[in-house]
Amino acid sequence: MQSVPSEQLDQTRDTPVSAVPRVAQLPGTESAGSGAMGPTGRPLPDFPDPGPLSNHGPARIIAMCNQKGGVGKTTTTINLGAALAELGRKVLVIDFDPQGALSVGLGVNAQELDTTIYNLLIERGHDVHDVIQQTRTPNLDLVPANIDLSAAEVQLVGEVAREQILSRVLRPVVDEYDVVLIDCQPSLGLLTVNALTAAHGVVIPLECEFFAMRGVALLIDTIDKITDRLNPRLQVDGILATMYDSRTLHSREVVRSVVDHFGEQVFHTVISRTVKFPDATLAAEPITSYSSEHSGANAYRQLARELIARGGAA
Ligand SMILES: Nc1ncnc2c1ncn2[C@@H]1O[C@H](COP(=O)(O)OP(=O)(O)OP(=O)(O)O)[C@@H](O)[C@H]1O
Ligand SMILES: [Mg+2]
Repeated sequence: MQSVPSEQLDQTRDTPVSAVPRVAQLPGTESAGSGAMGPTGRPLPDFPDPGPLSNHGPARIIAMCNQKGGVGKTTTTINLGAALAELGRKVLVIDFDPQGALSVGLGVNAQELDTTIYNLLIERGHDVHDVIQQTRTPNLDLVPANIDLSAAEVQLVGEVAREQILSRVLRPVVDEYDVVLIDCQPSLGLLTVNALTAAHGVVIPLECEFFAMRGVALLIDTIDKITDRLNPRLQVDGILATMYDSRTLHSREVVRSVVDHFGEQVFHTVISRTVKFPDATLAAEPITSYSSEHSGANAYRQLARELIARGGAA
């Protein structure tokens, strides 16, 4: 395959890296581990199994965010959530996309439910506890969504403190979980602004393809504005390369270009492209149980350990 000029990949060239929101530092990145070169072109540290937690909460809230569609936000929410749950973390995942893919992917038929995240946002008097569904994965619970949520964006516009509504909805449960993951829809509208306002961190999945970075400057700009105006604690927990194909020069060049730009903000863990992910989604299961020994399952387990090592989760 023909080599891609890096300036063509590099749609964020006008964003100085110093303007990127601060990132949780990964301790010992340079020296830890076996020193073998990882897929991001940096020595791959070891990410040890974190010890068990003796008590739970308060949760760190992480928004899975990229306004570009189909980059792996929902797949990462399901499988990172399941991998953290395997480590004994209590995990709540929030479906914040009217398409409801997260709910479907965890085996919940949200179209038939009377109360979903939509009712929590729009109607007063609901308790989030009544909307939480247990999934078949131990330690992994879900707040489902269905197409009703598509009306919320318009309905919330006239509300007082309209950006802080999700934050208020989640308040009663944050002490009961270790991690809350919010699966955002592919837009930077008011729902995503609510997710970023409720969150401590953002994980940005990027698909390893030609236009991977298109729009990332706008996303970073939005995160900056929210840090300034609404949520000073917000930080970028990491940028995750997804749908990586080590056999193609193209995939490797995209990852190199992302690392050139974002440095240590890029997770060492990279998620390869494999049909096991859509297969697992069809089976309504995380890959960690659908195909527990598969390299894709192990990649999300490594991501969970890396996130914890970075301080992105307890
Ligand atoms: N690593 C992967 N390898 C192969 N297919 C993948 C991988 N990750 C995700 N997919 C598939 O790609 C499609 C898009 O993934 P996903 O739904 O997770 O993206 P998304 O960012 O949530 O999309 P949207 O913006 O529409 O919400 C799905 O069919 C999913 O099964
Ligand atoms: Mg999605």
